Amino acid sequence: MKAIRVHSFGGPDKVAIDDIPIPKIEKGKALVRMRAVAVNPVDWMVRERIYNPAGADKLPITLGQDFAGIIEKIGPGSDTRFREGDEVFGEVWGSFVEYALVPLEDLVRKPRSISFQTAASVPMPGLTAWQAIIDTAQARPGMRFLIHGASGGVGSFAVQFARWKGAEVIATAGPESFEFLNDVGVDQVIDYHRERFEQLVHDVDVVLDPLGGEVQARSWSTLKRGGMLINLVGELNESAARKAGVHGVEFGMEYDTEDLAEIADLVARGAVKPHIVKVLPLDQARWALDLNQRNQSHGKIVLEV
Ligand SMILES: NC(=O)c1ccc[n+]([C@@H]2O[C@H](COP(=O)([O-])OP(=O)(O)OC[C@H]3O[C@@H](n4cnc5c(N)ncnc54)[C@H](OP(=O)(O)O)[C@@H]3O)[C@@H](O)[C@H]2O)c1
Repeated sequence: MKAIRVHSFGGPDKVAIDDIPIPKIEKGKALVRMRAVAVNPVDWMVRERIYNPAGADKLPITLGQDFAGIIEKIGPGSDTRFREGDEVFGEVWGSFVEYALVPLEDLVRKPRSISFQTAASVPMPGLTAWQAIIDTAQARPGMRFLIHGASGGVGSFAVQFARWKGAEVIATAGPESFEFLNDVGVDQVIDYHRERFEQLVHDVDVVLDPLGGEVQARSWSTLKRGGMLINLVGELNESAARKAGVHGVEFGMEYDTEDLAEIADLVARGAVKPHIVKVLPLDQARWALDLNQRNQSHGKIVLEV
């Protein structure tokens, strides 16, 4: 089977399309035939050796995490409600393949009404946005949010979850995504190429920051005292948070199949819309990762398997 792998860490030229054996089925696992996988920044971070937790730390590494597919086989003797032929989605290290072994407890049933491409686009960004906006910030009517990077995977779900909970949403994004963000009901969109958000935004309850660095530094003044900045990348400047009188949160998403099922249900009901901008064949994974790393995807790229 085809697998998108790296044999040494580094840039786009390290990405190879290898022919490797289909993994052998094991008890407690499902062999999933991939139908679609999605690109996240973590995938090129693994390739570059910027972020390599267990499962993505030993060469050669198969890239990819988010997927949707069909259960081909279930490990004999497994205790599960899943059946062969079920349509599923979720996360597994090394999803950029034709077949992957996935622990049964990590699988989520794909709603019939959404496509494999749509389902594959959800796990990493959807769970991150859900846990940040719903669990951490506890979005509700009357709250005001500033959400950076709103055209990206995380930001595009985050704006929709906050709106769904009745909060007011101000978003920063590039012009390629204005139409999408207006369609999903964002109250104010700020073009980060042309405008200084800190001159336009004040008194928000929550900032969601998937960019860090300079964006974090410029965000403190937009918050109310007692507000919250949720930091997704790099370091949180604790002393700046104290000075601004706000709560700084170092956020880390935790994979959770119940949250994922709930998000998929919202997508199936049309309450939330993934921001898919490109669908490419799996063979073009190298280019897809490169586009995302160069900040030129302007939304989610899905790869068809
Ligand atoms: N801590 C965690 O648990 C966790 C989980 C998931 C992701 N993350 C991290 O969160 C970050 C975002 O992930 P993602 O999946 O949303 O990435 P993504 O889909 O690549 O989106 C990033 C977006 O950032 C936008 N952007 C770039 N510079 C900007 C600026 N100065 N102001 C406003 N927007 C700007 C780009 O918008 P345009 O296209 O409009 O130019 C791009 O679409 C990544 O670094 C990822 O590693 C952390």
